[in-house]
Amino acid sequence: MLIAQLSDLHIRVSGQKLYDHIDTNTLCARHVAYINALSEPPDIVVLSGDITNCGEPGEYSMARRILKQIDFPTFIIPGNHDNNPNMIDALGKCYPHLGNDPDNIAYTVEDFPIRLIFLDSSCHGKVHGNLSSNTLSWLKKTLRKEPTQQTAIFMHHPPLPTGCLHMDTIRCMNGDRLIELVKEFPQVIRIICGHTHRAIFHQVNGLIICTAPSAAHQVPFNTTDTRGSYSLEPPAMLMHRYTVETGFVSYVMSLASYDGPFRFDTTCGCPQE
Ligand SMILES: [Fe+2]
Repeated sequence: MLIAQLSDLHIRVSGQKLYDHIDTNTLCARHVAYINALSEPPDIVVLSGDITNCGEPGEYSMARRILKQIDFPTFIIPGNHDNNPNMIDALGKCYPHLGNDPDNIAYTVEDFPIRLIFLDSSCHGKVHGNLSSNTLSWLKKTLRKEPTQQTAIFMHHPPLPTGCLHMDTIRCMNGDRLIELVKEFPQVIRIICGHTHRAIFHQVNGLIICTAPSAAHQVPFNTTDTRGSYSLEPPAMLMHRYTVETGFVSYVMSLASYDGPFRFDTTCGCPQE
């Protein structure tokens, strides 16, 4: 099982750039082509929120045009830059798992050796996240149904502070309730997020929480500046791969243009074999 996780696409309306200089639409189209051509094709693609930048209908039209090119089943959760009603209006037909209720987006994917649970941590009109009581009780019931099935939870906002100060102030503010809840369910082996625009790995009670880099701009891991800033460090994505031999392994894959791969040349490598 292989999952390609693209996050924080921040798609704009046709012809517009993010912050007037980042061409997120072109970047996203390029990433889609890259994923479609991977030598080990993913089973699914996950888009972990901030599909658009302003949640506007025109941005979702552009998102539909770009994302329909993905050759693999694709699963979406909203982020703080999304607008759930507009997202469901524009993308609901292509991604029926979103359902019809913008206040209760939560679903499972049961077709793989790792059970996947998708939660909405967005809070309409707010930058920070929150898990509603409905979502938390749905999660508890859902986890109780398959207590021995290894499970990964996807949500946009990370549930705990990591020391990246600006992001800590806009995390999922009641994420401690999620961590408390999953303590009862040791089958949960990963919480996989977006939002931080940076690959961050954090272990709590034996559970790994990871966040994905952005498909567009990145956020420096800054421990002193609460204002936040972004950089044009190259985009990247997370891959999550499960086999019986390895278990569930997550790794970063660059989405930058670069030379290679080149075969190792044993005639000039050290030590000589
Ligand atoms: Fe974002």
